[in-house]
Amino acid sequence: MKKNNIVLVGGGSTWTPGILKAMTTHLDQFALNKVTLYDIDAERQNIIGEFAKILFREEAPDVEVAYTTDKEEAYRDVDFVFCQMRTGGFDMREQDEKIPLSMGLIGQETCGPGGFAYGLRSIRDMEEMVKDVRSLSPNAWILNYTNPAAIVGLALDKLFPEDDRILNICDQPVNLMRSYAKLIDHDVNKLEPEYFGLNHYGWFTAIYDENGMDVAPKIKEIVLNGGFRPVDAEQRDQSWLDTYAMVEDMLRDFPDYLPNTYLQYYLYPDYKLSTLDPDYTRTDEVRNGREQKVFAECERIVKNDTTQDSKVVHNDAHGDMMVEVAASIANNLRKTYVVIVRNDGIVSNLDDDVMIEVAASLGKNGPHPYSVGKIDTFYKGLIESQHAFEKLTVEAYVENSYTKALQALTLNRTIVDAKKARKVLDALIEANKDYWPTLN
Ligand code: G6P
Ligand code: MN
Repeated sequence: MKKNNIVLVGGGSTWTPGILKAMTTHLDQFALNKVTLYDIDAERQNIIGEFAKILFREEAPDVEVAYTTDKEEAYRDVDFVFCQMRTGGFDMREQDEKIPLSMGLIGQETCGPGGFAYGLRSIRDMEEMVKDVRSLSPNAWILNYTNPAAIVGLALDKLFPEDDRILNICDQPVNLMRSYAKLIDHDVNKLEPEYFGLNHYGWFTAIYDENGMDVAPKIKEIVLNGGFRPVDAEQRDQSWLDTYAMVEDMLRDFPDYLPNTYLQYYLYPDYKLSTLDPDYTRTDEVRNGREQKVFAECERIVKNDTTQDSKVVHNDAHGDMMVEVAASIANNLRKTYVVIVRNDGIVSNLDDDVMIEVAASLGKNGPHPYSVGKIDTFYKGLIESQHAFEKLTVEAYVENSYTKALQALTLNRTIVDAKKARKVLDALIEANKDYWPTLN
């Protein structure tokens, strides 16, 4: 098996320890030669980087580990880029949530005006990353988890239409699959999804077990009778438990398919707004929870020079998925994952240029999506208006267009009213002036 050189962009993230741990437990599927962590925040990168050195020394001593804030060093001679950058960090995530909420609009990392703001920040850095990687490692696979993946995916498709080694992917479908598997007491690796939609905006139409039986009806029945909780509920903050609980409401109103949790913001904006605290958002929850835990634990590990008694650095679903996806490509395993690809007829009654989220078999040549066919009017209507929002957001960036930005926000189901759209746009322009192109 070929030993891969990989770089993790956003190496100082709270998600990094879990991904690194997953790398050490998947070496038989995804062989490693060198792991480089890259971040522009030296302080965060140092702590996680030192942790990484200890982890690999103990679990996988043959793998070389490095960390850096120099992109040339990071991108040179790599086989896989794992990309999870967050332009503007948690400070800007907080603004994405709190500015809309202060105006009575949904404030969320990837949905509505917050997702729009984050999108315009991410596109610029992602464009730069792809260009840098291509100049130093022309054949590397770029696996992107950077949010908002819907907007980033659409932008990269527009900016690099010929590049067929960029794959945008989100962990939420896998998280949901794991939670369904627990409900029906089944091995998740034996379940195969059928799925369509946009990122953070899609539905499972069927879940097949190893005998080819669709277990989605059974899952729906259990959710409708007893609610829905994430598989790792003990490790989840209250806001995530509330989010999963909303699946029951969505199923009651729209029983066709199992919905992605993020649809709650688009289907029930008024209700969600009534439950969100404009002064204490998800960013506060993360800062006071995962952020503190992960960094305190990494510091402790560095001080003790061992990971042996560590609890926080567990093997989470997110890390497993990232490494298994890379393994499926590197070793042509052709396993099924829900990924983001150009539609090109997969959903026959949507435009070709929609970046859809869909089940695909994943091998050496990338994703081979499973065809979906025609979708019903309700789903088509929702997807087309959300796609128009995403497309106008990307065009606003490329063309520096204030008008397109305003059109995008007006189309978003969490906003609708053009006066509200203008008000939030003007506030976001002010808050993002160090990150956004000028919109004229
Ligand atoms: C899920 C989504 C990601 C998102 C994350 C936020 O995993 O798929 O796109 O970034 O949740 O999690 P957090 O705990 O930071 O709110
Ligand atoms: Mn996601």
